[in-house]
Amino acid sequence: MGFKVSAPGKIILSGEHAVVYGYPAIAAAVNRRLTVDSDGRIASDIPIGCGMGSSATLAVAQAALKIKETDLEKVNKLAYSFEKKHHGNPSGVDNTVSTYGGFVWYRKESESFKTFKKILPKVRLSKLYLVNTGKPQESTKEMVKYVGGLRKARRTFVDGIFKEIEAVTRGFLDFLLNESKQDFGGLIRENEKLLEKLGVVSESTKSLIRRIEKIRGFAKISGAGGRKEESGMVLIYHKDIDLKLMSVKLGEEGVRIE
Ligand code: MEV
Repeated sequence: MGFKVSAPGKIILSGEHAVVYGYPAIAAAVNRRLTVDSDGRIASDIPIGCGMGSSATLAVAQAALKIKETDLEKVNKLAYSFEKKHHGNPSGVDNTVSTYGGFVWYRKESESFKTFKKILPKVRLSKLYLVNTGKPQESTKEMVKYVGGLRKARRTFVDGIFKEIEAVTRGFLDFLLNESKQDFGGLIRENEKLLEKLGVVSESTKSLIRRIEKIRGFAKISGAGGRKEESGMVLIYHKDIDLKLMSVKLGEEGVRIE
């Protein structure tokens, strides 16, 4: 009998790159999915290589297909091993959020000890959009390597940025849990500023984001980014304007048998 599995793409609200070095990240599954069936034809509405976790999503769907069940822990473990082959030094956040869905607080303490917890948001997120600046020239593996090289050369500088990113990630957690008053747009802007300081956002993407900020919007890259030309997906939040962009729902269902 044919077997069909689907898994969602993701966006990272905060913590990309820092998560590779043991800092926390918050990621959310989005309403775009990849489907694989037992004959191997693949259908997907997740743009490839643009920061929405296309490779991790494929790894998760293929893992579920191989195991032929949705024991999520098993699927996630196998998907992580596929991701490692593909991208070298992944944190595991992408495959974890695609496996479990929803919103995930994720931390890689060490190679053999990764922790995560689902976040059940107490606030409703709306007015969120995605704009695709295009597929970066650099792969995720190359961008992770670039940040690794920078950290080797300028450890105090990079770890300082990571600590500030962690503070922003914690701000997002407080916001989602409604535990303290947080400015959601301000957190997005701050996160983007830190990613720019890290050097993972290209000049053309920065100028797009400045234009969005000029019309009182907030925007950040999501995922590994890109330095040379495009930087992949940009997450936009705007309270007032109904933007005619790809609107995105966060917190969607994880891997499932179709
Ligand atoms: C990619 O979606 C997120 C990065 O932090 C890499 C990773 O966590 O493996 C850039």
